[in-house]
Parts: sequence; C-alpha cells; structure tokens
Amino acid sequence: MSNNERTFIAVKPDGVQRGLIPEILTRFQNKGYKLVGIKLTLANETLLKQHYADLTSKPFFPKLLSYMMSGPILATVWEGKDAVKQGRVLLGATNPNASAPGTIRGDYAVEVGRNIVHGSDSVENAEKEIALWFKKEELVDYKPTMYGWI
Ligand code: PPS
Repeated sequence: MSNNERTFIAVKPDGVQRGLIPEILTRFQNKGYKLVGIKLTLANETLLKQHYADLTSKPFFPKLLSYMMSGPILATVWEGKDAVKQGRVLLGATNPNASAPGTIRGDYAVEVGRNIVHGSDSVENAEKEIALWFKKEELVDYKPTMYGWI
C-alpha cells in the first residue's frame, strides 16, 4: 500500500444516464482521494474485451458488452492511500443486493447487470486498466494545497 496508489473507477452508462456522476465524484473526493484523470468516453468492443479479458467466456458477457456500450462512461483515476481497496469499499459489493447501505451500489442499485460503477480489484489490474483507458499525458500530477494531502 502506498500513499500515491492509483485506481481506475468508471461510472457505467446507467450511472451517467441517472445523473449520478456528481454523487460518485463527491464520495471519492470527500473520502480524501485526489482526482488525477477524468474523461467522458464511449467504449468499443475492442476496449471492453481487453478490459474484461477474464470474462469473455461467461454467459453474461454479451449482455455486459451491450450494457457497457449503451451510452457514455465516465472514466476516472483516483490517487491516495490504499486507493484500490478503499475504492472498492466505497463502491460496495458487485451484486448491489449484497452491498451495504452507505456504499454507492448499496444506495443506488438493485441489479448486478446495472451496478452503476466499476472499480479495479487489485493494484496490478488498476495499472492495466489505467493504461488501457488513459494515455499517459491525460493523467495529471499535482500537489493540492487546500486539503492537506501529504
Ligand atoms: S464472476 O462471474 O465472479 O467472474 O463475476 P464477478 O467478479 O462477480 O463480476 C465481474 C464483472 O462482471 C459483471 N457481472 C455482470 N454483468 C452483467 N450481468 C451479470 N449477470 C453479471 N455478473 C457479473 C460485474 O458487474 C463485474 O463488472 P465490474 O465492471 O467489474 O463491476
């Protein structure tokens, strides 16, 4: 765990369409993570097959693809202490019905196929996902002065 660990968090098409972008950004910002990359983007099949490489043989994969291509996705990168693990805590369990109230999925979703957000599940996958969704020059390195990041 490092103080400047990075994680990839995406607001999926249902989260974008339901107007949940501000809420999700606020939760990460309030927790104390630093936003270092953000863009609204459309995912294509090539990118999604790389992103979900482990899942291509799952029966739900075609549905997952069409869901993820149904509208824009907000791709973000957050930096801070234990960002990968704590980011997953903020999201809640993959199945929203197993997510605790107070988590994003616990508060806003009921279907695993419409679970609003994606978060990297390991530091290694975070590095892969960040490199897949962002060019190096799209990530911004800065030292915020207002909030006392160390
Ligand atoms: S698995 O089967 O255990 O490998 O899947 P899991 O780790 O629970 O989830 C991996 C991602 O697949 C999504 N998922 C689904 N999408 C649509 N329909 C169904 N039934 C479904 N089941 C799982 C799940 O949301 C995970 O996506 P991310 O983007 O990582 O949250």
